[in-house]
Amino acid sequence: MEKLGVAVCGLGWWGKTIVPLIKGSSKLRVVRTADPDPAAGAFAEKEKLPFTQQFEDALKDPQVQGVVLCTPHTLHTEQIVRAANAKKHVFCEKPLSLSRADVLRAVEACNRNKVALAVGHEKRFEPPVQELMRMAKAGELGTLLQIEANFVQDKFLSLPADNWRLSGREAPAGPMTATGVHLLDLSVGLLGPAARVFASVRQLGSQLTNGDTLGILVSFKSGANALLSAILATPFDGRLALYGNKGWAEVRDKAHPEAPLGWVLTKTLKGKEKQSVDYPPATAVLANLEAFADAAAGRAPYPVPQAQMIANVSALEAIFRSAASGKVEPVEG
Ligand SMILES: NC(=O)c1ccc[n+]([C@@H]2O[C@H](COP(=O)([O-])OP(=O)(O)OC[C@H]3O[C@@H](n4cnc5c(N)ncnc54)[C@H](O)[C@@H]3O)[C@@H](O)[C@H]2O)c1
Repeated sequence: MEKLGVAVCGLGWWGKTIVPLIKGSSKLRVVRTADPDPAAGAFAEKEKLPFTQQFEDALKDPQVQGVVLCTPHTLHTEQIVRAANAKKHVFCEKPLSLSRADVLRAVEACNRNKVALAVGHEKRFEPPVQELMRMAKAGELGTLLQIEANFVQDKFLSLPADNWRLSGREAPAGPMTATGVHLLDLSVGLLGPAARVFASVRQLGSQLTNGDTLGILVSFKSGANALLSAILATPFDGRLALYGNKGWAEVRDKAHPEAPLGWVLTKTLKGKEKQSVDYPPATAVLANLEAFADAAAGRAPYPVPQAQMIANVSALEAIFRSAASGKVEPVEG
C-alpha cells in the first residue's frame, strides 16, 4: 500500500504529538512540515523532516498529497480552502471552522476539488466510544433520551496569558474549542442535528480571563438533550454517558487523549446486572489519521459524515452566541 504523503502544518503542542504518531503508520508518512515560527524548525530537524515557514510551500510540493492542519482556529477555514484548491486532501484539527458559513465553505471547497476532508475528533475512534455508538445505533439502549458528558483538564493553566488559545477571538466560550467541541461532536453523532442551545461560561477557578468553567444544554431536533461540561481549571476527567429507555452506557477515560491509558465502559440494560469492561490503551488519534488516509486513497469513506461536521459547527456557533448573550439560541440549518 502506498503511503499518503502529508505536510503537517503547525508544529506546536498537537503538531509535535502527531508527527511521531504518523511515523508508526503503514498508511501515511510526513513528507514536509510548515510553521511560521522559525523555532519550530529545530523539531523538524530532530525528526529529519523538511521544514518551511510558508504554508504555501506545502501546497506547491508535488510530494504532498494531503495536509494535516494543527494551526490556530481562525486560520482553519482559509487553510482548508487553499489546500483543497491546490488539490490536497485535508485533515484539519478541531474545530473545523468557527461558523456555519465557514464550514459550508470548507466542505464545498473539498467537494468541488474532489479531495477528502477529515477532522481531529479522535474520541470517535476510541474503541469503547465506538462500542457505545454501535449499541445506540443497534437500538440496544432503546429510544435515546439524554447525554451527560464532560471533558475537563488543566493543561492551559501554564500557558502565558497572551497565548492564542486563551483569546476570546480564537477560543470563544472559554473551554469550548479546547474540549467541549469533542463532546458536541459525539452528541451530534449520537443524537443528530441540534435545535437550540444554552451555554454559560465564567472565570471561577483560575487566571484564565476568557473563562474556565462552561456548562451547556443542547436540545436536539429529536427532542433529546445533551448536558455538556468543559472546565479548564480542574485536573483531567473525561466521561460520556448515554441514557435510553432500555438502558444506559458510560465511557470513562483514564487519561487525556495525548497519552491514553485506556477506558472503562459501564452499562446497565433493563432487567440485567450492571456490567463494566476495561479497555486497554489505543491510539485513537492515529486511527483517525489512518481513516483520513483511507478516504484520500478511496479505500473507504471517512467515517464522520460531512452533514455531521456541518451540524457540529452550526451548534458550536450557537453556543458561542449563547455564551455571549446569556440566552437560549437557535441553531441554524
Ligand atoms: N484533537 C485534540 O485532542 C487536540 C489537542 C490539542 C490541540 N488540538 C488542536 O490542534 C490545533 C493546534 O493547537 P496547539 O495546541 O497545537 O496550538 P500551538 O499554539 O501549540 O501550535 C500551533 C502552531 O501553529 C503555528 N502556526 C501559526 N500560524 C500558522 C500558519 N499559517 N501555518 C502553519 N502553522 C502556523 C504556530 O506557530 C504554532 O507553532 C488547534 O486546532 C487545537 O484545537 C487538538
